[in-house]
Amino acid sequence: MIGKLSIDLHKLAKFTNLAIPILAVLFFLAGFRFSFYFHFLTVTFLFLTVINLFYLHVQSSHSVLRNFGILGQGRYMLESIGPELRQYLFANDTEEKPFNRTERAEVYRKAQNIDSASSFGSQFEFDSSEIKIRHSMFPIGKDKLVPYRLTFGEERGITKTYTINKPFVISAMSYGALGEKAVRSFARGAKMAGIPMNTGEGGYPKYHLDEGCDLIFQMGTAKFGVRNEDGTLNDDKLKELAGKESIKMVEIKFSQGAKPGKGGLLPKEKITDEIAELRGVPKDRDVVSPSSHAECTDIENTVAFIKHVQDVTELPVGIKLCVGRPQQFEELVVEMKRQDVFPDWITVDGAEGGTGAAPKAFIDRVGMPLFPALKSVNDILTKNGVRDRLKLMASGKLVAPGRQMVAFCLGADAIYSARGFMLSLGCIQALQCGNNTCPVGITTHDPALQHGINIDAKAPRIANYVHNLEHDLEELLASAGCRSVKELTFDHLYVPSESTLHPFINAN
Ligand SMILES: Cc1cc2nc3c(=O)[nH]c(=O)nc-3n(C[C@H](O)[C@H](O)[C@H](O)COP(=O)(O)O)c2cc1C
Repeated sequence: MIGKLSIDLHKLAKFTNLAIPILAVLFFLAGFRFSFYFHFLTVTFLFLTVINLFYLHVQSSHSVLRNFGILGQGRYMLESIGPELRQYLFANDTEEKPFNRTERAEVYRKAQNIDSASSFGSQFEFDSSEIKIRHSMFPIGKDKLVPYRLTFGEERGITKTYTINKPFVISAMSYGALGEKAVRSFARGAKMAGIPMNTGEGGYPKYHLDEGCDLIFQMGTAKFGVRNEDGTLNDDKLKELAGKESIKMVEIKFSQGAKPGKGGLLPKEKITDEIAELRGVPKDRDVVSPSSHAECTDIENTVAFIKHVQDVTELPVGIKLCVGRPQQFEELVVEMKRQDVFPDWITVDGAEGGTGAAPKAFIDRVGMPLFPALKSVNDILTKNGVRDRLKLMASGKLVAPGRQMVAFCLGADAIYSARGFMLSLGCIQALQCGNNTCPVGITTHDPALQHGINIDAKAPRIANYVHNLEHDLEELLASAGCRSVKELTFDHLYVPSESTLHPFINAN
């Protein structure tokens, strides 16, 4: 069937190749015989003839064009609009990746304060491959719930502890990956919602500070904003930044789920003069951060570095990592015990996490997915008797209450989300974050595209999203008969088999 189709296409291409110059001649003659206006068509078809000859006989990089001429161009056109065709016309509601339409719709509805009740039945499969939440035979009233409260730094007894009253935090996204208007919308929305925002590894957090929300300053491996020339930490710069009223905590990024074992990447298309200045980098090439901190070459000096940052900043200090080998994580914990140094929290980022830009092999294949990683981290900390020395944060497609509940049951104390908040800002999953061409203006510095964001209209959506997540979480807790997320355990999950602890299950 395919063979027959390709023979037909080849014949059609031959016919087209012949027809175009013949039409050019016919229109030329008609221009003299009937009306001058035919010459517009003469010029058009002459132009097509030249292009066609170029495709067939001159260029050599595209075999399809060499064989099919201008007709072959149709293939490239269809291929380029394939994602849009699939998204709008052909993909069903539960098919798209990384977030399918039902998942995105749930966030959009929450962000716009639209009721997200569904009818008739779930669209997900109910087979042995999925985790479910175990409800109680005796749900409790919502009036019995204990208000959420989590204090970072209390384990160390430091003066500048930081307390969150909602279990949601905007995960690291740098100014650079995001445009100015997106940063401002997130920051303003975070302030309205009463939650903190992580600055990402983009250096001095100028626009975040402008908006005045609570901030977690992220120090990536390149230490933008707080680095010496040689890439090591500049204590004075960090101390100065940590002294700012809005900076409540500091997160040392060791790795991130989308590219563990590799440093951050900012493509040169997205480096404006201002970003080059804020990061202290050149404009004319991609900025690739080192894969690890200059100070951290083994487990011993890594733990010592955490202590150093705690001492310099006098703030709660956490670490972010994607788990590779749980054994290596356990060695880290054992060393923490030996030095009696613990970060104030650990962020476990699942391999399914998002990014502004990363090599495809890393996005697809490196790192442990969130659920099994979170379970091993929680188990290792518990086994070593140090689970109460720190908090656990989790990220990795935790955009809806179902998966968030699963994360709490696996040990998380709070939820980080990046793409959930991007969706609530209007992200349409165009998958162009690294190209500076984001059609809704979130991950671009092009002013014409950023025009799409009206900060005053968008910031409340962040707050709505948080408010509605909180509402659903309370309902789920009440149905499980638990007064707070602290009471959730692994036993509250229905897990058909260990292999079910996989990120792509329908745990919504
Ligand atoms: C546009 C974009 C930029 C990001 N920038 C950073 C960053 O600067 N530092 C970092 O640790 N993680 C970064 N991340 C990863 C997120 O913070 C988060 O760990 C990951 O996307 C998982 O959360 P999610 O599934 O809710 O998106 C970025 C993600 C996105 C989508």
